[in-house]
Amino acid sequence: MAQRVQGTEDLYGGYMRAWQHMCDVAREVFGTYGFNMIETPAIEQVATFVHGIGESTDVVRKEMFRVFSGALVESLLAKGSEQGLKAKQRLALRPEGTAGVVRAAVQNNFVPQGGAPAKLWYAGPMFRGERPQKGRLRQFHQVGVEWLGASDPASDAECIVMLMTFFGRLGFASESLRLTINSMGDNQCRPAYRNKVRAFILDHKDQMCDDCLERAELNPLRAFDCKNAHCREVMADAPLAPDHLCDECASHYAQVKRYLDEAGIAYVEDPTLVRGLDYYTRTVFEVEVEGAGVGAIGGGGRYDGLMELEGGKPTPGLGFAVGFERIALALEQQGVNMGASEPSCVYVACTPDVRPAVFGCVLALRKAGVRTESDCQGRSLKSQFKQADKLGARLCVVLGTDEVAAGVVTIRNMQTHEQVQVPMTDFTSVVCEKLT
Ligand code: HAM
Repeated sequence: MAQRVQGTEDLYGGYMRAWQHMCDVAREVFGTYGFNMIETPAIEQVATFVHGIGESTDVVRKEMFRVFSGALVESLLAKGSEQGLKAKQRLALRPEGTAGVVRAAVQNNFVPQGGAPAKLWYAGPMFRGERPQKGRLRQFHQVGVEWLGASDPASDAECIVMLMTFFGRLGFASESLRLTINSMGDNQCRPAYRNKVRAFILDHKDQMCDDCLERAELNPLRAFDCKNAHCREVMADAPLAPDHLCDECASHYAQVKRYLDEAGIAYVEDPTLVRGLDYYTRTVFEVEVEGAGVGAIGGGGRYDGLMELEGGKPTPGLGFAVGFERIALALEQQGVNMGASEPSCVYVACTPDVRPAVFGCVLALRKAGVRTESDCQGRSLKSQFKQADKLGARLCVVLGTDEVAAGVVTIRNMQTHEQVQVPMTDFTSVVCEKLT
């Protein structure tokens, strides 16, 4: 039997309804903030991710699935040049949504000079070649927003309020959520800060793991996130970003916090929060569920340099993304099932001799917007009723020889077993009335 790829999941039944529910809540909540939906391709040029996410990040170096066509592989293998393959891998499956949306914004000029900001949200699969474990998949689903052209600290706070409102609407108990925030500075103050962290790591090099020593050269701030507990202990004494902000960044951060206080949003400042993507400037944030053990359920921040990195004009921006699979796991632990029950339906049952009359009935009900089911397997009337029960049908429309001869249908309430006969010409309006 064919097997699905490890670290991927099939979305169907209640799990699919949960994903759709999450998208519906996103549409509603983000809509009130003026965001419109966008869909960008799942496949982009590698350069889009390298420029945006950063060449030295784990996401780009180790986790990105490169894509190449069968024809290219064949021609290179025929020439015996497996080496050439890597150089020709110009396409990749998106590991996240931000770089692609920003690429689309640059290419389609979503934020013309002096124009209004672009407020976009998206939902879809992302791909990262990680070792699969609980809450960590190779194909997972994100809902995210990108707000391009907004520089005011109020927009950082609005974004965070919107994220926490979204989590609340999904059913999270607010006291179970832990929002952490930090400011990472900008192009003015961060280079000097990064050098300080590099120097700190090198001063403690005999106590740090090999990965951190490599990070010191490539991306020293990532050492704050090292999985090795000893490295994290050492890094607890490292210089912290909020202590090294320039005046503009410090003032921006202070205003974001003031707005969050005004909105009554509880947060914890974590001066070691650095996030795994290089495009962030100033505000960064992450949300975890206490005790859920699934890692962050969402995260984001400001990226004022990203439009330029993708070839556009200098344009500030910010956003966040949340992970569907982790949210579903964490909500389940709180007893919330996002994909509750299937929507109810009406079942049209018949005796086999009048089967042809069912065809028109189901079409008429569906035309009236009613979710309608009927038997397509030649079952007996009794097993049709059983099937209707199983499907959770609220009403059954029953057609028998006598009904068809008399031009009527019987409508049966599946809970109370009450039955009424109504003329065939009028039955859809009676069904609709009974459903309301
Ligand atoms: P991220 O923190 O890499 O940020 O991912 C956002 C969320 O996606 C995570 O908090 C987590 O819930 C989920 N996630 C990430 N990787 C996996 C995985 N392997 N398996 C399951 N879930 C996962 C971003 O992707 C940024 N683009 C967010 C952003 C938007 N920043 C600004 N705008």
